[in-house]
Amino acid sequence: MASALGGSTPVPVCVAALLIALGVRAATVGGAALKPEGAVENGWAVINHSMALVQRMEALLAQGNGSDVILRVQTVSSDEVKVVQAHSLVLSLQSEVFDDLLQNRDGSTLVLREPPECAAVFDKFIRYLYCGEIAVSLDQATPLHKLASRYRVWALQQGLSLYMRQHLASDSPGGHVVGWYHYAMQTGDAALRDSCLQYLSWNLSAVLQSAEWGSISDDLLLSLLQRSDLVLHSELELFEALEAWIGQNQPGGLTAESALRAVRYGMIPPQQLFRLQKQSPLLLKYYESVRDLLFLAFQFHAASPQQLAKYFDVNCSLFTPRNYLSPAWGSPWVINNPTRDDRSTSFQTQLGPSGHDSPKRVTWNALFSPRWLPVGMRQPYGGEHNGAVQPARADPGAGHPRIIVTPATSSADFAGVSFQKTVIVTARQQGKLVVRHVYNFHQSTEEMGDFLAEADLQRRGSEYLIDGSLHLHVVVKPLYHSLIVARK
Ligand SMILES: *[C@@H]1O[C@H](CO)[C@@H](O)[C@H](O)[C@H]1NC(C)=O
Ligand SMILES: *[C@@H]1O[C@H](CO)[C@@H](O)[C@H](O)[C@H]1NC(C)=O
Ligand SMILES: *[C@@H]1O[C@H](CO)[C@@H](O)[C@H](O)[C@H]1NC(C)=O
Ligand SMILES: *[C@@H]1O[C@H](CO)[C@@H](O)[C@H](O)[C@H]1NC(C)=O
Repeated sequence: MASALGGSTPVPVCVAALLIALGVRAATVGGAALKPEGAVENGWAVINHSMALVQRMEALLAQGNGSDVILRVQTVSSDEVKVVQAHSLVLSLQSEVFDDLLQNRDGSTLVLREPPECAAVFDKFIRYLYCGEIAVSLDQATPLHKLASRYRVWALQQGLSLYMRQHLASDSPGGHVVGWYHYAMQTGDAALRDSCLQYLSWNLSAVLQSAEWGSISDDLLLSLLQRSDLVLHSELELFEALEAWIGQNQPGGLTAESALRAVRYGMIPPQQLFRLQKQSPLLLKYYESVRDLLFLAFQFHAASPQQLAKYFDVNCSLFTPRNYLSPAWGSPWVINNPTRDDRSTSFQTQLGPSGHDSPKRVTWNALFSPRWLPVGMRQPYGGEHNGAVQPARADPGAGHPRIIVTPATSSADFAGVSFQKTVIVTARQQGKLVVRHVYNFHQSTEEMGDFLAEADLQRRGSEYLIDGSLHLHVVVKPLYHSLIVARK
């Protein structure tokens, strides 16, 4: 920091001026009370006036005493100018960009040109430089982030990035996540970009119905359509939302084509596909671009997937399900008071999405154990002669949640199909219910090791408990290996 203080401004004078401006004199410190809890051994104590210092800094900025630089903030679009009486020491201390500007200025005025949305929050930004704290609302996050980046105030920039990642679910009239995603793309903030993408993917049904959907860029649309972890009612819902998006945005033919080719037509039942093929104006318009995919989808529905694979080399995402919430694919599972006992449930799904398999049902048994212990961690129970092992119930912290999902009967029909299970976990965030986790496994969540690891279900206030209940949705996704896995 020493270098930030150097340059044309003589440091000692500047510091002295600042201290005088702050009113820091021996006399003012005298009346302070020592905090008893701050006391430590041997008469040491902490005299802490950091709150008072912050207040003085705030007053210094507000009253401009001892100011040695005037900031004039201008915007291109308006004649309005914001004037701030500032102190070069504080600005240089917090921002190397200000340090450079101040060293190279002539005169006592620094003219700054900012976009209107940044000029609007400039006072807040400067106040942060003086006081080290800031109150942020959803619509101020990106303009402040821009300022923090431009003036290289890294701590503020990181704080805002974290704020955004933690407030994706907050209520805002027009939605803000799409805007933040686009902003993250522009600035190369990969963590924010990925958080936004994940939030949109996992709450897609809600997004599709919101005004925000229409504001999604071509790139974001195509990124979303590639993903297999989208949580939504059905593939048809996605197709209809795509129709609406294309109707509203009128993209170029290439974008419309790429988007339509990313729809997984095999996951739409044939009756609905007939209707789309004949009645969707969009599909009629782009029929030639997707004709091969529709043909493949109808072939997929016409026979068993094994037969199809015998004759055709197909390898595409057309046959990979996403996380569909409609009843053919799985079931919601609300577990009341999930902390104590094992719970079980059963539900039915279609054998598979192909027209050949969808009328056949498979019954599944699911078992939830709140404190399951892997075999190696169980303690022998009773004497040496008693070989039985039991979960160590005495230790309330032991074990962790587990779900296993198994078919009630095995069947020859299962040949060539493996069933990927997905558990979608909903939790409360900023008062709203949002999908917080999507766990994939084959039979047991033990396969992953981190199932509900952070949920802390024992804690009453756990955000994973909604009125004392755990809200899950189990999806069963048949994967036809012959159609997805590489063939010679
Ligand atoms: C700023 O100056 C005014 C008078 O010019 C004075 O009343 C006020 O106490 C000063 N503020 C600080 C923080 O020293
Ligand atoms: C001084 O007080 C502030 C606010 O009261 C507190 O945040 C800070 O941790 C304290 N510092 C020390 C060293 O106790
Ligand atoms: C997120 O998605 C889940 C599951 O579809 C839904 O229950 C929830 O209301 C959604 N939340 C928001 C904020 O969109
Ligand atoms: C099948 O598709 C996957 C994903 O696109 C790819 O990784 C794999 O190499 C493909 N296999 C063949 C045989 O084309």
